[in-house]
Amino acid sequence: MSDIIEILRHFSTRFNQDLAIYFPKPQGAEKRVIEAMEYSVMNGGKRLRPYLVCECANLFGVDYNTAFPAAATLEMLHSYSLIHDDLPAMDNDDLRRGKPTCHKQFDEATAILAGDGLLTAAFGYLSTALQIKPEIRLALIQLLADAAGAFGGMVAGQTLDLYAQSSGNPTEDEDIISRLEEMKTGRLLRYACEAGAVLGQASIEQRNHLISYSRKIGQAFQITDDILDREGDQKLVGKTLRKDDSQNKFTFVSYYGIEPARKLAQKLINEAITEIGCFGEKAANLQKLAQYIMDRQY
Ligand code: IPE
Ligand code: IPE
Ligand code: MG
Ligand code: MG
Ligand code: MG
Repeated sequence: MSDIIEILRHFSTRFNQDLAIYFPKPQGAEKRVIEAMEYSVMNGGKRLRPYLVCECANLFGVDYNTAFPAAATLEMLHSYSLIHDDLPAMDNDDLRRGKPTCHKQFDEATAILAGDGLLTAAFGYLSTALQIKPEIRLALIQLLADAAGAFGGMVAGQTLDLYAQSSGNPTEDEDIISRLEEMKTGRLLRYACEAGAVLGQASIEQRNHLISYSRKIGQAFQITDDILDREGDQKLVGKTLRKDDSQNKFTFVSYYGIEPARKLAQKLINEAITEIGCFGEKAANLQKLAQYIMDRQY
């Protein structure tokens, strides 16, 4: 695992430097919102999604510089989703990535606007990324809109996360949790892998292997997030923990219990590793990343 941690650290250092270019020095009376956007993006996330974009694109020989706009704009969009997720009207969190949440550091209205600004800028920057061929850029924009939106994407998942309730029927409940996770967390992780396939003009079969890999690591990722909420070390995780139960969140852990959830996550990770075996040695980092997603402490 130390190997992939080092690889991720190395990636993040380069990625963070490049990402800073998307935040020109804020000027004028409106600079508060840009400061809030930058504060929430440039604050030490794990950068898993951008790493996935670049590593999946790399399977097809697409270099980091070409994949970068897709990776960076996904991280901006992900950061917007976290700002809004933390708002008092949603999860009401004070701590994110080890620092005060955006609405705590600034104020609620600025946090809402910072989220809006990041979401819009993500599509703006992606649409003007000249190193990506126009038809590929358009395909990425469509894919990102689907992954992030209310029609089966992240926004739909966040809605279920807030309003889903037990149906009283275990089979139906399992279905609700799977759908909730698939949309709230799974869709952006799936986009990360699919973006790599689109950039690399992968065959349908290759793309399907990556989609299946992303679904499995996505579910395992959310299970680990739910387990960390129950038994993680707050200093490491950088978020206020032990909240899912008190907020009556419908999670894999609340449904299955912690040990069965952990077993399920490891089974999914093993399957994810097998799923991309077809790419050979080139997929070794993605295979290590899969196990890291399960073993991570934050
Ligand atoms: C947290 O995502 C939100 C979920 C989808 C569970 P990450 O754990 O990837 O957060 P950062 O980007 O590293 O802060
Ligand atoms: C957040 O899920 C998912 C999105 C922001 C789309 P959680 O609410 O479980 O994430 P954390 O635990 O606050 O990071
Ligand atoms: Mg939430
Ligand atoms: Mg939350
Ligand atoms: Mg959580």
